[in-house]
Amino acid sequence: MYKKFFIQTFGCQMNEHDSEVMAGLLEERFYIPTKDIKEADFILLNTCCIREKAESKVLSMLGSLKKLKAKKPSLIVGVCGCMIQQKNIVPKILHACPFVNLMFGTNNMAQLPDYLERIEKYGQPVYEIVDEDSSADLKLPASREFPFKAFVNIMYGCNNFCTYCIVPYVRGRERSRKKEDIIAEVKELVADGAIEVMLLGQNVDSYGNDFKDSVSFADLLKEIDDIPGIERIRFMTSHPKDFSLELIDVIKNSKHICHSLHLPVQSGSNEVLKRMNRKYTRERYLEIVHAMREAIPDVALTTDIIVGFPGETEEQFQETVDLVETVGFDNAFSFIYSKRPGTAAEKFEDQIPLEIKKERLQRLNTSLSKWSLYHNKKYEGQNVKVLVEGLSENNDNMLSGRTDTGKTVIFQGDPSLIGKIVNVDITTAQTWVLKGKLEEEN
Ligand code: 5AD
Ligand code: SF4
Repeated sequence: MYKKFFIQTFGCQMNEHDSEVMAGLLEERFYIPTKDIKEADFILLNTCCIREKAESKVLSMLGSLKKLKAKKPSLIVGVCGCMIQQKNIVPKILHACPFVNLMFGTNNMAQLPDYLERIEKYGQPVYEIVDEDSSADLKLPASREFPFKAFVNIMYGCNNFCTYCIVPYVRGRERSRKKEDIIAEVKELVADGAIEVMLLGQNVDSYGNDFKDSVSFADLLKEIDDIPGIERIRFMTSHPKDFSLELIDVIKNSKHICHSLHLPVQSGSNEVLKRMNRKYTRERYLEIVHAMREAIPDVALTTDIIVGFPGETEEQFQETVDLVETVGFDNAFSFIYSKRPGTAAEKFEDQIPLEIKKERLQRLNTSLSKWSLYHNKKYEGQNVKVLVEGLSENNDNMLSGRTDTGKTVIFQGDPSLIGKIVNVDITTAQTWVLKGKLEEEN
C-alpha cells in the first residue's frame, strides 16, 4: 500500500533541491506525494537557520502540527536540514514538540527511507545527526518540480567563515563533485527534457579547489556550455573574493550562460567587510562590476546586503547606500543582521538595536527599488526571449516566465507554452516585474 508524504521546504535553492532528492528517495519506496498536508502519513520539514526568523517559521509550523498528530497517532513528523545540524538542537525541539519522531541533519538525507522503515518497524523515534557527509558522491534520484529546468549541485559546504554566517557550521567544509559526474547528470537532465540548469554551491568560484588536478569553475562552465540541447545555464552563489576576471570572458564567449550575475557584496564599508571576514574591498567589488558591465553590457547584477552588522555606524551604513547608488543593482536581497549561535559575530560588541536596523533596511530598500525600476524601464519596447515557467502566481489567466537576465515577465498565453522559450514584447515595466504581449509569430 502506498503512503503519502508532504515536504515543506524552508530557505535556499540548495534546500529546495535537497527536498527534490528526498522526494525522489521516498517515491522509490512506496511513498507518493500529496499537496494536502492533512492526508499525509509522513510530514517532513526541511529547515533553514540562516536567520532567526527562518527558525521561528519552522517552530511555528511544528506547533501547528501538534493537532494533526493528536488526531492521527501513526503520523510520522520529521525535521531535517540545516537547523537540525546545529549543536544541541534536538533536545530543544523535543522540549517544545515531543511528538517529533524523526530528526536528521544535512549529511545523512540518503538514509531517509531506512529511517522511516526503522520507525515503522520498531515504533521508536530516530534522531541521527552525523558530522561526516555520506552522500556527496552518491547518485541519488530526484523528483524535480519542473521538467524543463533543474538544479544541479556542483559542490557542498563552505570554507569561508564569514563572521555572521552559520552555513559553514551546518553544511561543513567545501566538497566539489567530480566534473564527470556533474556533466553526466546535466546530459541526463537534458535527455529528460531540461533546457535550463542552475548550478548550485555555497561558493561556486572555488569549485575544484579541493581536487589535486586543476579543474576550475570556468572549465566546468565551458564543458556544460557545449552540451547539445542546453539552452540556459545559471549559477549561484559567487563570492567576490574568488570571482576570477577570466570567468567574465567565459560568460561572454559562451552560447548559453545567462547574462546575470548574483554577487553578494554584504556591505559597502571596508571596515565592516573586514569585520565580516569577507576578504575583499569595496574597490575590488567595483572593479568586478565595471569589468562585467564593460564585457557584457546587458548583464543584470544582483546582490545580498546585510544591514546592522555589529558596530556598523551610520557612516558605514551610508557607504553601503553609496555603493548601491554607484552600482545600481538590478535587484537585491537585503537582510537585517541576525545573531547566529556559534558564529564569531555573535560575540562582537556593539550589537545594533532592532529599531535602527529596521530603519536602515527601509532606507536601503528605497534605494534598491528605485534601481530595480530603472533597469526594468530599459526593457519597455524591447522584444525578449522568455522561458515560460508556469501560471502567474497572482493571476491564473496569465503566464509567468523569465528572461535570460532573470527578470520575471507576465503575459497572456496558452498554458501549453509552459517549458518553452517564447518571444515577448515588453509593454510595461514595474519595479519587480515586466508585463508584455506574446509576439504574434510564437
Ligand atoms: N544575518 C542576516 N543575513 C545573513 N545572511 C547570512 N547570514 C546572515 C545573518 N546572520 C545573508 C547573507 C547571505 C545570504 C544568503 O543571507 O547576505 O549572502
Ligand atoms: Fe556564509 Fe560566507 Fe560561506 Fe556565503 S561565503 S555561505 S555568507 S560563510
